[in-house]
Amino acid sequence: MSTLHGTNRFRVPSICLTVNLSRFNPACVLVTGGAGFIGSNYLLHMVARHPDTRFMNLDALTYAGNLMNLSSIDTHPNYAFVHGDITDVELLQGLFDSYPIDAVVHFAAESHVDRSIADARSFIRTNINGTHSLLDAARHAWSKAPSRPVRFHHVSTDEVFGTLGDSGHFTEETAYAPRSPYAASKASSDHLVRAYHETYGLPVVITNTSNNYGPFQFPEKLIPLVISRAVAGDTVPVYGKGSQIRDWLHVEDHVSALERVLLDGHDGATYLIGGRQEARNIDLVKQLLNLVDEALGRGPGTSHDLIEFVSDRPGHDYRYALDCSFVEKELGWTPSRTLEEGLRETVAWYLANQEWLDAVRDERYRDYLTLNYHSR
Ligand code: NAD
Ligand code: TYD
Repeated sequence: MSTLHGTNRFRVPSICLTVNLSRFNPACVLVTGGAGFIGSNYLLHMVARHPDTRFMNLDALTYAGNLMNLSSIDTHPNYAFVHGDITDVELLQGLFDSYPIDAVVHFAAESHVDRSIADARSFIRTNINGTHSLLDAARHAWSKAPSRPVRFHHVSTDEVFGTLGDSGHFTEETAYAPRSPYAASKASSDHLVRAYHETYGLPVVITNTSNNYGPFQFPEKLIPLVISRAVAGDTVPVYGKGSQIRDWLHVEDHVSALERVLLDGHDGATYLIGGRQEARNIDLVKQLLNLVDEALGRGPGTSHDLIEFVSDRPGHDYRYALDCSFVEKELGWTPSRTLEEGLRETVAWYLANQEWLDAVRDERYRDYLTLNYHSR
């Protein structure tokens, strides 16, 4: 069952599409998973910057979805929330029938690798079946007016490419080689999106992004987990020896890239979006602990004692690193922050938003701790 919440119920408008030949100019964007980490940062960015575009946020509000993230735009006239599931075919058809949706930006997913290792069912259901339902709904709705400019933007991950050794970078040409159930489900969704483009001519763009961090990230992911546990004086689990390497991107830099891709990306293109900020897990954890100590006035290095090396993640990918020259050259996008700046901002955000952290940890974090197979 779906419900429209808030004061911003959409009327079915008489649409007057202004078609700019050089730029896609959507009238009504269906954003899926907009109550999650990246989706909510995207909506906060887009709703304010595009007052003439309507944004409908379709979200099932799983443990990872949180409407608190969106309280500052809740009453904006160009924003509305729809509580529902992307696997609900009737709901999707009803939305496309009732509203002039001309763009889909698809974030909704199960997104945490450790959860996918514990049980992959919800990953198959949402990431594969849900993406398929959404593609089908868009294809059927948009085939009724084939000349209308439309776009399906699929938000995906660099984890579809598998793992790198000490050198080299993923590019748009890298072959898919997913190694975790999460990565396999996202790879499958990417293949479906590309297949709908090739088979039915559905206008699509795909973005594959590196590890994000920043405000509103659920504290099961490394960076908010380290900050929140260090502040509370709890142990900080590092998998294996902490030698794995990730390429970190601040979420606000990511959403500015997603904006460019939606409006100016080439039909059928894939864009790799990364931070060009690689760090070994153990170095990142120590850097974060130093920042927490500094912010709380603890002596330098005090929190390093909290580090606890725990059993490694099965199939743990060693290194991710993206070559972003295509998006840089084609769309003129580059990240605006260094990792040091982004981490500083992020520590400050979590310290200033303890209420948010308490609220999401109270109900949902406990579930994660019982679900997770790692010793804590
Ligand atoms: P998240 O887990 O924080 O949020 C996912 C959102 O999707 C939640 O609001 C949840 O309620 C919603 N959702 C889940 N199942 C749903 C369903 N069946 N129907 C409707 N809504 C549903 O995820 P995130 O970190 O914001 O990631 C967003 C997207 O970006 C995902 O597709 C993820 O694969 C991709 N991505 C994430 C990262 C990262 O570092 N977080 C990196 C690259 C790509
Ligand atoms: P995570 O934030 O789960 O992102 P992903 O698995 O998608 O890269 O993990 C980032 C890295 O940190 C990854 O190499 C696993 C590691 N990690 C830890 O060492 N300890 C933890 O408690 C978590 C959650 C992750």
